[in-house]
Amino acid sequence: MSKAPTARLDRLLANMAYGSRREIQQMMDAGWIVLDGAKLRNASMRVAVTPDLVDRMTVRGKPLDPPAPLTLMLHKPLGHVCSHKEDGPRIYDLLPARWRSREPAISSIGRLDKETSGLLLLTDDGGLLHRVISPKHHVAKRYLATLDRPLKGDEAAIFASGTLLLEAEDKPVLPAKLEVLDDHRAYLTLTEGRYHQVRRMFAAVGNHVNALHRDRIGALDLPTDLEPGQYRVIDLEGLAPIFAGERV
Ligand code: URA
Repeated sequence: MSKAPTARLDRLLANMAYGSRREIQQMMDAGWIVLDGAKLRNASMRVAVTPDLVDRMTVRGKPLDPPAPLTLMLHKPLGHVCSHKEDGPRIYDLLPARWRSREPAISSIGRLDKETSGLLLLTDDGGLLHRVISPKHHVAKRYLATLDRPLKGDEAAIFASGTLLLEAEDKPVLPAKLEVLDDHRAYLTLTEGRYHQVRRMFAAVGNHVNALHRDRIGALDLPTDLEPGQYRVIDLEGLAPIFAGERV
């Protein structure tokens, strides 16, 4: 079994944005930091950073935030932006304020457009982020598209061909799977994440996406009880389905 990493307590808590290292020492002097029922006094002590720390440590009487590495699933609501550069409410505003100042920072794994809803993963683990977004790892993302015009019937073959070119690009999109639900609705499963890819793929076959929702990443489904705007922490076991999805 691999040993849990250890961290200096003041650094651990400062990285989780509880305060500066000096402030952490003051919080300890005040008896506000408790581990296994005992008030901690020594800011330079090392603690094993294990997932159960959230159940064993309290800060000002509240359970410790989950330490890094932290991964979340969020039900992104319509109208929120994933990028720090765009205008509008940000997905990060949906997280506890302290989580927005953590080191390493939490960022979304890929992005959804402002007007797209659904399953979005966020993490402070750079390796995980890379594995999910890199087309090399073939993590499939499934979108439910509601279309302006009826489907013609040839779209599935065009999307699967691996030859479809998007406007202003010279590299065709990778083969993608279309599952038609009815005249105006279909699931589209992709393994890449180009800018506005689903909308642009439908535009390339003469249609227009009126509504877009992502409901699956790998074999991880957006839980039906996770309402728009809500998030949930995913543990190691919960991450496994991300890499267990079908190949397109
Ligand atoms: N494709 C899009 O067009 N928009 C998204 O948000 C995701 C994929």
